[in-house]
Amino acid sequence: MTETVLLIGGGGREHAIARSLASDCDLYACASNRNPGIVALAEGFERVDETDADAIADYAETVEATLAVVGPESALAAGVVDALEDRGVYAFGPKKMDARLETDKAFQRRFMVENDVPGCPDFETFHDIEAACAYVDQYDGDVAVKPAGLTGGKGVKVTGDQVTKEEAKEYLRTEKYERVVVEERFVGEEFTVQAFVANGDVRPTPAVQDHKRAYEGDEGPNTGGMGSYSDAKRTLPFMEERDYEEAVDVLESVVSALPDYRGVLYGQFMLTADGVRVVEFNARFGDPEAMNTLPVLETPFLDVLVAARDGETLPDLEFAPTATVCKYAVPEGYPTNPEAGARIDVDEERVTRAAERVADQSSDDESRDGVGEGLLFYASVEEREDGLYTSTSRSFAVVGLGDTIAAAEAVAADALSAAGDGLRVRQDIGTAELVQRRIDHVTDLRGV
Ligand code: GLY
Repeated sequence: MTETVLLIGGGGREHAIARSLASDCDLYACASNRNPGIVALAEGFERVDETDADAIADYAETVEATLAVVGPESALAAGVVDALEDRGVYAFGPKKMDARLETDKAFQRRFMVENDVPGCPDFETFHDIEAACAYVDQYDGDVAVKPAGLTGGKGVKVTGDQVTKEEAKEYLRTEKYERVVVEERFVGEEFTVQAFVANGDVRPTPAVQDHKRAYEGDEGPNTGGMGSYSDAKRTLPFMEERDYEEAVDVLESVVSALPDYRGVLYGQFMLTADGVRVVEFNARFGDPEAMNTLPVLETPFLDVLVAARDGETLPDLEFAPTATVCKYAVPEGYPTNPEAGARIDVDEERVTRAAERVADQSSDDESRDGVGEGLLFYASVEEREDGLYTSTSRSFAVVGLGDTIAAAEAVAADALSAAGDGLRVRQDIGTAELVQRRIDHVTDLRGV
């Protein structure tokens, strides 16, 4: 039987999900934005707000969906999985209560303590902003202040890194969030491990490093993520095998305490001098991390979804031994003052040719060896008669694949070299220099 899968969401992450499913099923999609990459892969597309659970469930009934995949956290928080289930459609994503692992940071930390999930920081939660400010003052060391609810990855302020303690307090007083979490700051290197979870099974995927800061050298405000890389194995160059295993143990301990959890469980970890700590959990694929992970997944993603729905053991996952580098092109001024309306000059053919061009170049440069392919994933773009234009969010991402991170980076960099005026890219993501800085940082921390 051919499955009919409904994909919810219209970002780069969802374009990567669509690419990994389209040839194996009848794919339909719905989102608040019309992503041309998804529309080209899907048999039908409906413009629906991702938080309108009833409208999404109506569309699932119309297309007779046999499965659904939920991309964005806003849909999880709105109870889209629950609404689909009420209509008899299995959705790969946690129900609203379990999605609190991401949607409620205070719940997340309490859950960790109550269930002995390793890697939890010292923390306190507050309704009273002045009490939170007093805690920031009295805490012996730097802190991270976080609104308890969703902020698109842009709400966290870290003292001793982005802000001073005075600025953190001013931020809390200005924003007047209803609830905040103030927690110990972790120092180290961040990495992400995502796992497919259902029926009590946990199937981890290779580690990825995202880059949240807007500008090169990890400067500037936090963004939804400017790009990310993964290696041709499951660890990153600054990690040891035991660090990856520690992260997977954490994800498994979450699922032991939440045995009905299903969907992607995303762990954002900090590799510190004292081992692996949990920065946060998300209840869905990362964006951009999905664009690193799904292109190297050799096990059909549809097989995971079907096994999850049918209450079967999840398949063991196979991954190509391929490194990936993903770079987002964003409008000038993103994220604080984005300027929409710039023409986008990159298309799929240009990205494919980037891989060919790089492969053809002189092989005396080590980074040119082992080049794979280049992939283009659209995110938030505006379609006009004469082409695509930027909106105010991340526009599109290019993923380079290769035998090494350097080879993958060369493809992504070439593809983006003519992205168009009015777009900005973090050129440093995946470069040998930046990766070496990460390795040196961890070496320093570990004192070896
Ligand atoms: N890459 C960060 C996130 O998806 O939240």
